[in-house]
Amino acid sequence: MANMEPGKEAYFEGRYVPIEEAQVSILTHSFNYGTGLFEGIRGYYSDAEDCILLFRLKEHVERLVRNFNVLCMEIPESAEDIEAICVEVVRRSGFHEGVYIRPICYKSELSLGPKLNGVESSFCCYVIKLGDYCEIEAGLDVAVSSWRRLSDNAIPSRVKSVGSYVNSSLAATEARQAGFDEAVFLRQDGSVAEGSAMNIFIVLDNMLITTPPTADILVGITRNTVMELAREELGLEVVERPIGRSELYVCDEAFFCGTGAQVAPVRSVDRRVLGNGTPGPISRQLQQLYFDVVMGKVDRYRHWCTPVS
Ligand SMILES: Cc1ncc(COP(=O)(O)O)c(C=O)c1O
Repeated sequence: MANMEPGKEAYFEGRYVPIEEAQVSILTHSFNYGTGLFEGIRGYYSDAEDCILLFRLKEHVERLVRNFNVLCMEIPESAEDIEAICVEVVRRSGFHEGVYIRPICYKSELSLGPKLNGVESSFCCYVIKLGDYCEIEAGLDVAVSSWRRLSDNAIPSRVKSVGSYVNSSLAATEARQAGFDEAVFLRQDGSVAEGSAMNIFIVLDNMLITTPPTADILVGITRNTVMELAREELGLEVVERPIGRSELYVCDEAFFCGTGAQVAPVRSVDRRVLGNGTPGPISRQLQQLYFDVVMGKVDRYRHWCTPVS
């Protein structure tokens, strides 16, 4: 547990157990083949309300359950159960700060052979404390990765599967070893996909552009949030279309977004500085709005926040 502080109890094999007891065997199918699905959900601590607000819990659980079909997952817990378990692990943690919830559905059978159907699955869930996952003030220096994004016909990126994060780890490691903060994945056709664990937006002539759901991306819930805030609150035109690599060099602004990354402005791509090298006005406004919304300060979006006290 080098870099994380978990809550004392996790949900494992149908009950709440001390985190030390939530252990899987080395014979577990998902440990051997990466056959698991997961979510990452943030909870923001609100001083004013003295509670943790889980952001878009319902949408995260919906995405998880929708993707069961791809990995032939069947678990006893319903979507409503999963939501209730996420709330309960946070409640039991007693944390009074920002948290990150990790629900996981995984092939729990102790069996050999890379297949999906007829292999037993289980659900578990834990919570950790989490602050900012990447720099969100000064802007990130990012690099286009030499690793291509997994394609839909290899391992679908729309599915947040355990095994697909080898691809993310390769790109993130390459970028950091070369002195950058983050990576941008291209697809097999050379167009832009997303970051290692975040979606990407560019701003061109006051228009917000992001890659479409068919561009080998995880269709992010933060991406959806940003698109709605941009349209509804800032009156911006938002377009989903393929993005060419060189558009990353000539755009006015760029930013990443994701549950972990939040809204993280990009200040340079492959050492080409964007604008004046500081986060642009649209990135800043969206970042501010995003933080107001997740902290439950905007009535219109209050239904996105689930309070846990
Ligand atoms: C590969 C990838 N893309 C995008 C995202 C953003 O998705 P979300 O906003 O739903 O967290 C994530 C997860 O955080 C991710 O791992």
